[in-house]
Amino acid sequence: MSSSDKPTTPVKSTGLHVGEIKPGVAKKDPILIADGVRRQFGGLTAVDVAHVEIPRNAITALIGPNGAGKTTFFNLLTGFDIPNEGTWSFNGKSLAGVPAFKVARMGLIRTFQLTKALGLLTVMDNMKLGSTQQTGEKLWASVFHFLWKKKDVEIETQALDLLTRFKLDAKKDDYAASLSGGQRKLLEMARALMTKPELVMLDEPMAGVNPALTQSLLDHILNLKKEGMTVLFVEHDMHMVRHIADWVIVMAEGKVVAEGDPYEVMKNPAVIDAYLGSHQDVDLGTVTGRITLPKQGKEK
Ligand SMILES: Nc1ncnc2c1ncn2[C@@H]1O[C@H](COP(=O)(O)OP(=O)(O)OP(=O)(O)O)[C@@H](O)[C@H]1O
Ligand SMILES: [Mg+2]
Repeated sequence: MSSSDKPTTPVKSTGLHVGEIKPGVAKKDPILIADGVRRQFGGLTAVDVAHVEIPRNAITALIGPNGAGKTTFFNLLTGFDIPNEGTWSFNGKSLAGVPAFKVARMGLIRTFQLTKALGLLTVMDNMKLGSTQQTGEKLWASVFHFLWKKKDVEIETQALDLLTRFKLDAKKDDYAASLSGGQRKLLEMARALMTKPELVMLDEPMAGVNPALTQSLLDHILNLKKEGMTVLFVEHDMHMVRHIADWVIVMAEGKVVAEGDPYEVMKNPAVIDAYLGSHQDVDLGTVTGRITLPKQGKEK
């Protein structure tokens, strides 16, 4: 924090960090730690995170303008991409070189900005595949009922419970392809929970979700914490971030430029700079709100 940004009132302690709040600040009980993680695409450095720690059993929002490197960072942390350099660990175990399916089995699961539901499988079969990520059963064999014995009932009960929670139970026999974009996001989140993860990383879970479902999705995320899980989610809507996040990490041009309490972070000049760029006259809430912010750059 620069001297010009001296707070007039003491910064509220979230109880999650140790020492002065600045990018890379240590957490009391980090579940994930990344060090010197850099990913280059040709001449472009998409991610260049010196140090970051994700606090356990808290909801952390990863925010930043389009192209800041949030999704790339998610990909690197979860074994879907490989950095040029860097180390990162989950529950104290290095994840370098660990493929995504093994990362998932270790308890770190992520969802995608673009949903990955398998359209030609039913909603229920998508859920069952989520479960196999943990048990390590053969992917395609798991789709056929005759290969499922007692366990099938157990898994189906768990899947149905999750589908009910996400209001998708009526669609369990429909092909995932028939779901709306928002419903597919819900399915992906429900499926992620089949592995009973410790850390759930959600890449823009609210994007494309019908506003009527938004509140229930927020409640789902809050519930994950209540159930003892840790959540790291990417979100552009600052109202949602303020509403549910215990901690906020801000990325810009691949780097972590600020972090802290959601209410404090948005006052940080580095954050205002990162978001506003040439739009200095626009209110920050408006710029970062999903409704009025046009997506720039590539379609993903
Ligand atoms: N596979 C790739 N090949 C080349 N460049 C890429 C690739 N993936 C991402 N990039 C670039 O890396 C930068 C970071 O992209 P990334 O998708 O991680 O940003 P983001 O913060 O998730 O943005 P958004 O908010 O729009 O989702 C962008 O400039 C993007 O164009
Ligand atoms: Mg992204």
